[in-house]
Amino acid sequence: MHNKIHHSLMQWYKIHGRHDLPWRITNNPYKIYLSEIMLQQTQVKTVLERFYFPFLEKFPTLLDVAKSDLDDVLKMWEGLGYYTRAKNLHTTAQKCQGDLPKNASELLELPGIGRSTAHAISAFAYKEALPILDANVKRILHRYFAIEARDEKKLWKAAYELFDTKYPFEYNQAMMDIGSMVCLAKKPLCDVCPFEKGCEGKSAPQNFPEPKIKKIKPVRKPTIVVYTHNGKIALSQRKERFLHGLWGFVQYETFEENEGVLLGHITQHYSHFTLDADVYKCESEYVNEECEWFAPSEINHLSLSGADHKVLKLIV
Ligand code: ADE
Repeated sequence: MHNKIHHSLMQWYKIHGRHDLPWRITNNPYKIYLSEIMLQQTQVKTVLERFYFPFLEKFPTLLDVAKSDLDDVLKMWEGLGYYTRAKNLHTTAQKCQGDLPKNASELLELPGIGRSTAHAISAFAYKEALPILDANVKRILHRYFAIEARDEKKLWKAAYELFDTKYPFEYNQAMMDIGSMVCLAKKPLCDVCPFEKGCEGKSAPQNFPEPKIKKIKPVRKPTIVVYTHNGKIALSQRKERFLHGLWGFVQYETFEENEGVLLGHITQHYSHFTLDADVYKCESEYVNEECEWFAPSEINHLSLSGADHKVLKLIV
């Protein structure tokens, strides 16, 4: 149905595609799976330069992940953000005990693997003929079919319609590349786009998808307190979903300032709020019972959030 488009897409991919990405030159399902999880919320450059290879060096197989403590997995994830991904990776590794399922519908049953990620892993590792629908592909489809509404159902329908069942690997990789190199959110490079002729949204790409109404991010203003006693520092491990498993300093919504000494101030931007906190130091052995005491040198072996790293810089 879209033979011409498929042809020009393949030609474009041959010449401009990023063929040397390490997860494109392997058919090891674990290495492909790991890349897709890391790339869910992080740019290729960051994953490639700082996280993908060290993680594989530490955990060469999925079984190595399964056999390790969550703390060790989190340590390798430190700085990558969205730590639920690491927790889900660990759970998935333990469920699979070495072997990932060999099709998208079973991959979808695993924690942390949504429909698009299941399709990506299966198309790349097993050549299963399924389209992906990540943020970059969505933008192409919105424009190509002039779809204004951010409507998942419509987009999946469009994804299947445009899909090239003969070349699931190349088609999906090419779509990702065009999304990140050509069909750019702010200034799309329509002149060099292989979709150009058939693209219904070309004359007004900014309207597809319809612009989001910008929500103002809430600002959280807790007080962070660094408790010290006998040269040790109190930290607790987070149990809630957000930053799960990471160690952090004590935070209070309200704090009596005269109980400590002001060390400084930190700001950290998260996807759904901004943290804006005064940091105090307090010499006291009485902290909440979830805390454990660590010597400064021991803290280097723990996984801390970006915000808590900033706090650490204020004290050492
Ligand atoms: N983002 C998600 N998956 C990707 C892939 N396989 N190549 C490049 N970017 C991606």
